[in-house]
Amino acid sequence: MSARQYAESLRSLETPFYFYDMDLLRRTLEVVLRESSRYGFQVHYALKANFDDRIVSEMVQAGLGMDCVSGNEVRKAIESGCPASKVVYAGVGKSDKEIRYALEQGIFAFNVESLHELEVINTLAGEMGRKAPVALRINPNVDPRTHRYIATGQSDSKFGISYTEINQAIASLTTLSEVEIVGLHFHVGSQILDMGVFENLCHRVNDIKAWFEEQGIRLRHINLGGGLGVDYYLPDQHPISDFAAYFETVHRSLKVDPDQTVHFELGRSLVAQCGELITRVLYNKQTATGTQIVVVDGGMNDLIRPALYQAHHKIENLMSSGPVESYMVVGPICESADVFDRDVDLPATHRGDLLSVRTAGAYGMSMASRYNLQNLPGAVYSDRL
Ligand code: LLP
Repeated sequence: MSARQYAESLRSLETPFYFYDMDLLRRTLEVVLRESSRYGFQVHYALKANFDDRIVSEMVQAGLGMDCVSGNEVRKAIESGCPASKVVYAGVGKSDKEIRYALEQGIFAFNVESLHELEVINTLAGEMGRKAPVALRINPNVDPRTHRYIATGQSDSKFGISYTEINQAIASLTTLSEVEIVGLHFHVGSQILDMGVFENLCHRVNDIKAWFEEQGIRLRHINLGGGLGVDYYLPDQHPISDFAAYFETVHRSLKVDPDQTVHFELGRSLVAQCGELITRVLYNKQTATGTQIVVVDGGMNDLIRPALYQAHHKIENLMSSGPVESYMVVGPICESADVFDRDVDLPATHRGDLLSVRTAGAYGMSMASRYNLQNLPGAVYSDRL
């Protein structure tokens, strides 16, 4: 149930805070597991989307692996009870300390983003007397048709190893004795709703995989990354992403041998809809041009997506109903970008009302900061109210 159903219990709590609908989270996980297991696919949760303890613990209980992008994320995954054998570790800038830690833990695979990094992992693994399992992250040059800040798989991106570079270096790969190339990794971007993008990705992966196999490199797994999007406009109509269509598209388009496993790193689609940022109205005012402004106590420090990506989040007034008026909803931070949205239709909205900024469970709390020395937002869970 969304925060609206709990408005009375939420009224007296200190704002701003994230509200998590734990029932929706569990239902989402049920669907993901049901749809992925049809094809034997393995799902890792992209911890960067939300590393709230209770959310991570639900992921671990559901049996998901973890996708990490820092040593601290690897540590969080393992300390939360995820077996190291289900942890994948990506990132263009892994430090020596982080690599050593992940080697000690015995993770499933390093998703390696450059040939230089591969050499460093080879050296560090040698020093530690360990073999490093590695999936090469190849940049497949597929257009994800999403916001440019969250597009990662095009040829001018900082992510992954370019096809041309790998072509030239393939012979030298086999001389690196302390790394074992066990798979290939891809991730082309985030908030992708067009299944055609995943189909294109699979076609590229089929070609790249065949090329590696021609070079005599046996691949045990293919990791297609994450990226499945959510409906920011109609969260109540589409609370759970279309996992059936997503996994079916991959099953239909990706060519894998019976002994090869297929992995995914899903973040947003697992947690975005179960989270809402709840914030309280402080003031009403009007600009010289007649725009009605509502100032709330939560801001871009709590949820940066509108300011950083011009992202749309549906905003609702949990306290009142009736004929709507148009408002600009702004936070307290000393930045002109601290605007949640303009032209928001809300019933007459007053000081003390609670507003919900919907679909904020992914990349909300995990990107929050203490800018302006604001407090970090709290967390409230539907099953503890
Ligand atoms: N795997 C890799 C290698 C990634 O870089 C990402 C996200 C994921 C998996 C998970 O992608 P998802 O399933 O969540 O789309 N802060 C931005 C999103 C940044 C995504 C970064 N990488 C936002 O708020 O839209």
